[in-house]
Amino acid sequence: MAKCLTVLGIETSCDETAASVVKLTPDGSGSTLSDVVLSQTADHAIFGGVVPEIAARAHISHLDRLVDKAMQDAGLDYPQLDGVAVASGPGLMGGLLVGMMTAKAIALAHDLPFIGVNHLEGHALTPGLTHDLKPPYLLLLVSGGHTQIVAVEAVGEYHRYGTTIDDALGEAFDKTAKLLNLGYPGGPAVEAAARNGDAERFSFPRPLKGRPGCDFSFSGLKTAVRQAAQELDRVSETDVADICASFQMAVTDSLKDRLQNAIGQFAGQHADGRGRTLVVAGGVAANRKIRDVLAGLCDSNGFNLVIPPIDLCTDNAAMIAWVGALQLARGKSDRLDLAARARWPLDPDAAPAAFAGKKA
Ligand code: KG4
Ligand code: ZN
Repeated sequence: MAKCLTVLGIETSCDETAASVVKLTPDGSGSTLSDVVLSQTADHAIFGGVVPEIAARAHISHLDRLVDKAMQDAGLDYPQLDGVAVASGPGLMGGLLVGMMTAKAIALAHDLPFIGVNHLEGHALTPGLTHDLKPPYLLLLVSGGHTQIVAVEAVGEYHRYGTTIDDALGEAFDKTAKLLNLGYPGGPAVEAAARNGDAERFSFPRPLKGRPGCDFSFSGLKTAVRQAAQELDRVSETDVADICASFQMAVTDSLKDRLQNAIGQFAGQHADGRGRTLVVAGGVAANRKIRDVLAGLCDSNGFNLVIPPIDLCTDNAAMIAWVGALQLARGKSDRLDLAARARWPLDPDAAPAAFAGKKA
């Protein structure tokens, strides 16, 4: 690649409407020229979760303005771009279509290459943009829709070590919060409540702990939290704090156990010592307790821990623009009849997990 590549990225796969312009330089490093994100959290809060139709309508209302702003912030006109990238899956179909149509229209109007990007690949390759980190490395992706451990071997080469067989971790936080009337999104509320709680008071299950492999399961934990709350006469503030702290303890124990297996598997497959890095992405990466536990785990295994800045851990368009630029640099782009994909596993060889729905 002889010249810089400047790419506009668009992200509308869930409940964030986002646009960003990113530049890839010939030495392989990247910089973010603009990055705008509009979170729809408030629109969905009273429903306790993302409502697909509301999300799609909000994307329609805001995307054009956000794309304009991303271009203005970058100080660029469309002809100065080298391509337009969009998250084309996996995600909610209505939202994906809004982003796809917008990206295709811009690409067509300005005769620019168009690139459909896997949203999960965006999360997986973000450390290249933020930390100049090159594969191989191990990735833990923990968000409201996904809980996966993936070996990132190279751009375009991913091996999924494990996934959730039921709920995603962020979903488990959100459901726990809903049960305790802590509001939505639940993760930050559960974390805050847990700070004053007794993590030993409730002994919640650690599903799959001690078993081989790297899969997760959180639905049993959710049921145990519900039972604990129902068994109390009146749930006091102290009870809420203790339930949250005990829940978080069960979660961190489970993450440690599953990741220990993953680290063993990864180190076994990279006996030359390359890639001793664990990257964490997704909204749950904001959790301090989880960060501390993962830092300890990495320390004891001789791994580095890399966590991108939190606004690049959660859904954003910089990661989509970045993957678009990397694809373009490899001579890849898509036709304008590319279809959106509600499901799109990063590792095509990974078997669908039994009950994982769209999270696999
Ligand atoms: O990556 P993200 O912003 O959106 C997607 O799901 O794609 O992740 C949102 C999830 C929500 O489930 C939210 O409750 C969780 O991340 N989350 C947290 C924290 N902050 C956000 N979970 C635990 N602790 C937090 N501090
Ligand atoms: Zn995401």
